Amino acid sequence: MSTENRLIVVSHRLPISVERTAEGYQVTASSGGLVTALDSVLRKYAGVWIGYAGEESGGDVGRLIELACLDHSYRMEPVPLSAEEITKFYHGFSNEIVWPLFHDLQSRCNFDPEYWSAYREVNRRFADAAARFASDNSFVWVHDYHFGLIGGYLREKNLPCGTGFFQHIPFPPPDIFEKLPWRTPMLEGMLDYDVVGFQTERDQRNFLECVSAILPGASVVKRSDGVHVHYGSRCVRVASFPISIDFHEFADVASRDEVTVRVRALRQEQQGRKIILGVDRLDYTKGIVERLRAFRHMLRHWPQMKRAVTLLQLVVPSRADIPKYRELKEEVERLVSEINGEFSDVGWVPVHYFYRAFDREELVVHYRAADVAWVTPLKDGMNLVSKEYCASQVGETGVLILSEFAGSAAQLRHGALLVNPNDQQAMAEALISACEMPVTERVWRMGQLRRYLRENDVYDWAEAFLDAGRTLSFQSCITTPPADAARAGMQG
Ligand code: ADP
Ligand code: F6P
Repeated sequence: MSTENRLIVVSHRLPISVERTAEGYQVTASSGGLVTALDSVLRKYAGVWIGYAGEESGGDVGRLIELACLDHSYRMEPVPLSAEEITKFYHGFSNEIVWPLFHDLQSRCNFDPEYWSAYREVNRRFADAAARFASDNSFVWVHDYHFGLIGGYLREKNLPCGTGFFQHIPFPPPDIFEKLPWRTPMLEGMLDYDVVGFQTERDQRNFLECVSAILPGASVVKRSDGVHVHYGSRCVRVASFPISIDFHEFADVASRDEVTVRVRALRQEQQGRKIILGVDRLDYTKGIVERLRAFRHMLRHWPQMKRAVTLLQLVVPSRADIPKYRELKEEVERLVSEINGEFSDVGWVPVHYFYRAFDREELVVHYRAADVAWVTPLKDGMNLVSKEYCASQVGETGVLILSEFAGSAAQLRHGALLVNPNDQQAMAEALISACEMPVTERVWRMGQLRRYLRENDVYDWAEAFLDAGRTLSFQSCITTPPADAARAGMQG
């Protein structure tokens, strides 16, 4: 993919947003794993990235985005959304329906039918934007749950390009997915892409089970060249592609002399205490509240851990316009202050809390300095923080404690300590084990993790997905009658 614009990436958010403030326009870097991963990929492949960067486009905003394109070395094409679209499509359908439902939190869902109409309209508009760039050689790669329907709208246009959809968040099993009032058009929409990719085999299996349960006309065929779903005239490749990070970039930053100096200073500040690190986008799926409660539980029940550890909790602001996220911020801040009120002592504050975006170097300083990364989402599509920590651990002495409900647990289980984030006792015990682990075991575990990540980085992820798009054997899909193939292969 060397020619500009052969790769057309579509996601809800561009890597920057431009907002009008009293002082003029402000350009802010977007946060989240999708942006971290796709920015690396597009810097390598070039192409165009279509997404939202704010309510305005053109004029000064257009010029600021063009400047950012030079810096990022790929083209960005903003699609503005109105305030009403943001409310109904983004806050509504995306964040009040799909996000909680797909993270097993259905009691948080608001199935407002107006949200579905807005979802369809915005998907159509982004499809129109992608179509403007599509040509014979291009591949339109759509990202995440905001855009389940773009593939269908592109197919209506009979464009000569391939399409793929990658879901960054989990895909739920049928008993949860069936709660969605628009379950049939949503699944049908996803089957309008040529390739559909998930983070883990579990998500892929859940999707296939939903297809079998909800679309009686569909057949799932497993063959040597992968899993295909036949539905009407469609043949869709479905696979798992675990996303990753630019391992070498994190490792290189971590090895810089100036980082080494800052790591030493941070560790000296802690005077030999173990540094426990939490790094999260502010989201109720990340288990920040549960982690703080487990930390309090540990300090209450293992008094010898007082003054022996410090928790550095870095939180990047996210979805701050949504009331549930504002409430979460208040809850996190209340807990931090309760813990510090209960346990602080002369010369020791148990929890250091930071609510802001860190630049890459600052983040890596914390990753490298931390004795333990405590990554405990209640449910997560992948979780890049767990991978970034390992890549930055160039000394290989840190310990990763990882929720068994993070997608990354499927790949990192051999080196991490796995925990159930709802189990305060187990969380506290894992923390103590990590702090007391002999150095030989720590180095062995971290070595395993880093070897895996070095060999499976974000470029391998992108190549695997794009290869699936390139090598689609449409011919064999057509010549194998679905019913025969289903009988010959494994169905369901
Ligand atoms: P999600 O995609 O749900 O946000 P991930 O763990 O996959 O979760 O990705 C989070 C991304 O946000 C990571 O790339 C991480 O480096 C970044 N991040 C998290 N906290 C901060 C922070 N305080 N400052 C800057 N970046 C952050
Ligand atoms: O990982 C899921 C996701 O929705 C990604 O699209 C993005 O990386 C992150 O969460 C941030 O969310 P938002 O774009 O809603 O701020």
